Amino acid sequence: MTLEEKIGQMNQLDPSWNAEEKEALIREGRVGSVFNIVGAKELNRLQRMAVEETRLGIPLVAARDVIHGFRTIYPIPLGQGASWNPEMVEKAAGLTAGEAVSAGIRWAFSPMVDVAHDPRWGRVAEGYGEDAYLTSTMGAAVVRGYQDNGMAACVKHFAGYSASEGGRDYNTTWIPETQLRDIYLVPFRAALDAGAMSLMCSFNDLNGLPSSANPHLNIDILRHEWQSDALLVSDWGSGSDLVPHGLCADKKEAALRCINARMEMDMQGNIYTDYLAELVAEGKVKEQQIDECVRSILRLKYRLGLFDNPYVPETQPVAYSPEALALATEMVEQSTVLLKNNGILPLNIQHSTSLNSPYGFSRSFEALPRKELSTLNILITGPLADQKKEQLGTWVFDGEPEHSITPLMALKSFNLQPSTLNITYVPGLTYSRDKSTEGFAAAVQAAKKSDVILFFAGEEAILSGEARCRADISLPGAQTQLLAELKKTGKPIVLVVMAGRPLTIGAECEMADAVLYAFHGGTMAGPGLANVIFGKAVPSGRLPMTFPKMVGQIPLYYNRHNTGRPSYDPPMLIDSIPIGCPQFSIGQSSYWLETPTEPLFPFGFGLSYTTFEYGEPKLNEQMVNGKMVNNFTVSCEITNTGNFDSYEVPQLYIRQLSGELVRPICELKDYQKIFIPAGKTVTVSYQLTPEQLGYWHEEYSYTVHPTPYTSHQLWFATDHTDFQVWIAPDSRCLTKPVTISY
Ligand code: GLC
Repeated sequence: MTLEEKIGQMNQLDPSWNAEEKEALIREGRVGSVFNIVGAKELNRLQRMAVEETRLGIPLVAARDVIHGFRTIYPIPLGQGASWNPEMVEKAAGLTAGEAVSAGIRWAFSPMVDVAHDPRWGRVAEGYGEDAYLTSTMGAAVVRGYQDNGMAACVKHFAGYSASEGGRDYNTTWIPETQLRDIYLVPFRAALDAGAMSLMCSFNDLNGLPSSANPHLNIDILRHEWQSDALLVSDWGSGSDLVPHGLCADKKEAALRCINARMEMDMQGNIYTDYLAELVAEGKVKEQQIDECVRSILRLKYRLGLFDNPYVPETQPVAYSPEALALATEMVEQSTVLLKNNGILPLNIQHSTSLNSPYGFSRSFEALPRKELSTLNILITGPLADQKKEQLGTWVFDGEPEHSITPLMALKSFNLQPSTLNITYVPGLTYSRDKSTEGFAAAVQAAKKSDVILFFAGEEAILSGEARCRADISLPGAQTQLLAELKKTGKPIVLVVMAGRPLTIGAECEMADAVLYAFHGGTMAGPGLANVIFGKAVPSGRLPMTFPKMVGQIPLYYNRHNTGRPSYDPPMLIDSIPIGCPQFSIGQSSYWLETPTEPLFPFGFGLSYTTFEYGEPKLNEQMVNGKMVNNFTVSCEITNTGNFDSYEVPQLYIRQLSGELVRPICELKDYQKIFIPAGKTVTVSYQLTPEQLGYWHEEYSYTVHPTPYTSHQLWFATDHTDFQVWIAPDSRCLTKPVTISY
């Protein structure tokens, strides 16, 4: 390959702009990949230019933001995280790849595995929440699903992007290397261990160095420590962004800094095509640096089989198959989190159901008749009840809203034989930011004639995702006011929230008799929610992120440190401070005057229509001469003590009680989603290895000569100390722990 041809491979373009100009570049062999072009016909047209008109005929690879579905849209990734069902997520990714590949897409810019502690950040919608282990299992599942079905995954954004200060997108991130390795890098390693063929740089400067120009991230860790051969592509112009970052004086310097940090492909930045040849000629860049990058690019194309089969069959694309729609429905059921229920849910069910999903997630339960009601009068209201586009959520380019089934549509056609459903629909507000109260009276009027109110609240899709950060994460518009007016009618209210992030909905939860948090559920949000509301499916979602009471508590996450002065309960809150009181430290503990440290809802939390009882935990440890000879096994019995068969998500948490560094008050180390029929007892057990108990240590040492400097040593190890271990339904760890001495 000539230098020109090599540099051409490092160029990724969105040819939808200046199409003829970009096509000329393709014909000259100066483009390695295109993105944001869909359709076999068009992609084959561009591919013929690359394969048949250039000297070497190296095929293009077509990429796309396929984030949570292609045509069939599944719940947003945060919702998929709430399913705690990686097998189901893998299935969905496989079906998604089938749809995307049939449209010519062979490289998806997902999964996003940025561990996020800040719901103000719009992109929490695109990740799997606040825990590295849960995110790792989900990211690896997506990688397998995509790549077993012909589409390369691109795990992103490498790295630390979600720690953007203030939850403001693209903002500065300061992350100590131990935290970077213990939290933010963990899911990337898991995705690469699952075989991810590529990664994407992140926009943020990490401790002062933007990721696209960060040799410590991209070479020391990714290539030397992890020995990865995956392709590293920039984010959109993240290379040329080094100039506004204030790192580089101009784009030529940016090109130099990026190639020296082995950013291998330049997405829509044009800095490699504009400057790399010059930098080689000036001796500032060695050609073998370019060879390394091109090798990664050709490897990805080779792994996808593009050299043998560069073209897409121009047959009817795969889309909205019954299989995909059924799975999308089931994923809504499994990602919806029941946050409150005074018994109003499920709304009257008179029949037992035995539904076996196509994926072995059999759901059958005896739904006990609750009370004979010949007719059920339901008011459906709220700005998200009938929004085909909004329910799809953020990052949807190829899912068509006309295929969405909204909650209104699904509820109107729901068969509740022998009961009759009378559905009245009065939205009250026309979109989530609507501040007008004009529609309130009609909604209140209709509520007075109903037996129950289903209020569909939340955010429009555009209020989350990239560059969609909010400094106030309450329900937008006048939704809370409408809810308060409806509350005055005295009718029971089921609040269903469809949003791209946790929202501060404490007041709304007070007003509602039941609360379902459905994130943005995608194409089949309606049928999935209708099945949950009427009890054809029992909600089994668990929160992937902590829900703060108020935005001032952020960042608030479960695996926090205890501090030397943990807040004790109840703390002295602002209104209990005596007027004119003398100067004194109030309680000297770590909390806010307006609120204790407790969240509105904790990580891992979620109710069911049944109840579960956790038995005494048992520990099976094999220690000889103080050394663990094999793994610990922790187990306990769990009984479904209610009337509904249901999934439960027993979570394994540990806490290190002392050691070299302070450790979190609890850390998720394993989980499973297990189906337990009503009245039955199962035993769950988890293995714990020394590796799982370990963390990154660090040590600084000052050296005087030859010139004074401080060195910083990092190593991964497990301290010899005591650990508490729980098998618990959520991160409050209210079950009895066992203690491991390692
Ligand atoms: C965007 C996003 C990235 C996406 C890329 C291509 O700026 O940060 O996640 O894959 O550009 O659209």
